[in-house]
Amino acid sequence: MIVPKHIGLIMDGNGRWAQQRGLSRSAGHKAGFEHIPPVLEICHDLGIQIVSAYAWSTENWNRPKAEVGYIMHSLEKYLSEFVKELHKRGVRFIHSGRRDRLSSKALRVLDEAVTLTEHNGPEIFNFVFNYGGRAELVNVTRKLLAEHVKLETISESTINHYLWTTGLPDVDLIIRTSGEHRLSNFLLWQSAYACVYVTQTYWPDVGRDDIEAAVKYYNEAMVK
Ligand code: FPP
Repeated sequence: MIVPKHIGLIMDGNGRWAQQRGLSRSAGHKAGFEHIPPVLEICHDLGIQIVSAYAWSTENWNRPKAEVGYIMHSLEKYLSEFVKELHKRGVRFIHSGRRDRLSSKALRVLDEAVTLTEHNGPEIFNFVFNYGGRAELVNVTRKLLAEHVKLETISESTINHYLWTTGLPDVDLIIRTSGEHRLSNFLLWQSAYACVYVTQTYWPDVGRDDIEAAVKYYNEAMVK
């Protein structure tokens, strides 16, 4: 069995999970957030070292105000606790995404998480928040121009260096939950060769069987 080194999670279906139970969308996001640690535990057991989890996209700001407010409030209030647990397990936390539109409190919590865990590893949790693959490439272009990087020196590894995921290997396997077959602007450059597995399960219900099935699918795709 080949274990993917870096997996990407497109955590979809919190809203539908909540609707099924007559709960609010915010309750769905709460369940979704609380479901990240158990899934990381499963990944750890399987030997997966790097997990990139898509928690908020640059497009998600168009959602109802109450939903946006709930997500931002939860980030400010609960991320530190979540990161303390990662730190206890020796996991490094990184953030991939834009900083604009985030509150100063949210930025502080994210920066503290990065600093607290910066010497951890080899396991990495990449929190993909306020992220868009296109926004990331725009950001890379701006940095290249701002730093007057010489045209003839620009290679793929130069681009890799300027990505928010700098230093991380490519994504091997993307798992998208709740039956959608779109990439939704997720780690576009990093996923150029990724295998994509879609499960019908809503994110808060994702279990060991889903992750194992995805890894099996990845293995079958690798030998083709
Ligand atoms: C898409 O599914 C999911 C999101 C936009 C957010 C995913 C976020 C988490 C799992 C964690 C929340 C993070 C924090 C900081 C609280 P959806 O909810 O739109 O589901 P739907 O397509 O069924 O409506």
